[in-house]
Amino acid sequence: MPLIPPPFPESRSAAKAPAAIAVEDVSFYWPSGAAVLRHCSLEVGQGKFCMLLGNNGSGKSTLLRLLAKLLARQTGSIHMSGPVGFVFQNPDHQLVMPTVGADVAFGLVKEKLSEAQMKKRVEDALSAVNLWHLQRRPIYALSGGQKQRVAIAGAIAQNCQILLLDEPTALLDPDSQIDLVRQVQALVKSRGLTALWVTHRLAELDYCDYAFLLEGGAVSDRGDPQRLKQKLKTSYIE
Ligand SMILES: Nc1ncnc2c1ncn2[C@@H]1O[C@H](COP(=O)(O)OP(=O)(O)O)[C@@H](O)[C@H]1O
Ligand SMILES: [Mg+2]
Repeated sequence: MPLIPPPFPESRSAAKAPAAIAVEDVSFYWPSGAAVLRHCSLEVGQGKFCMLLGNNGSGKSTLLRLLAKLLARQTGSIHMSGPVGFVFQNPDHQLVMPTVGADVAFGLVKEKLSEAQMKKRVEDALSAVNLWHLQRRPIYALSGGQKQRVAIAGAIAQNCQILLLDEPTALLDPDSQIDLVRQVQALVKSRGLTALWVTHRLAELDYCDYAFLLEGGAVSDRGDPQRLKQKLKTSYIE
């Protein structure tokens, strides 16, 4: 009797990319009892650039903080497939050293690297965000967009696989805004990173692979960024 081939051998390779971020049935309450997230679930595939939208106060920052373990979840499960880097809205709350190179190196101190290893990691990370030439530049002399790229370089230097960015363009002018979103799009492609980016600016949806809308404490819509862009154009104040 001939051997029966395994069913659908090709289905394995066609399988959906494994999730880098998996949130299942997460609820979160402040000590006052106010619920922010209610049975919230979402998945972000490995190597994808996803955006998260929602009105002010809808819980976007709370969700990102839960993913980064800056807050502790109360119910449900959260799985992150690798090390996580966080980029805040205001880089002045994040950059702590006087110069670009020193700031990126600061995140590596705990790794006890040799001087040469440290230098290489810092230079590689700064090259990835096109700031290699600004290593000695004081942080105060950078533009807002450059500061955000230093924050991203810090995460790359630490080999973070997942970037969480909480309205990283909110304080930027329109040109720097588009530069930054393009930069992250390119990093996701070239380094296989996964990014979850919170925004209010619908123009940014042109650069991502997938989008989520957070409403009433859970994801109320998800999918093609262009479809969400059209839908929100009428209901959303940029
Ligand atoms: N530290 C806090 N203590 C109590 N309530 C908070 C705190 N931070 C945020 N909130 C409340 O949680 C809700 C969600 O906030 P947030 O996640 O910051 O929303 P978003 O980022 O979507 O604007 C809001 O009602 C906000 O007022
Ligand atoms: Mg927020």
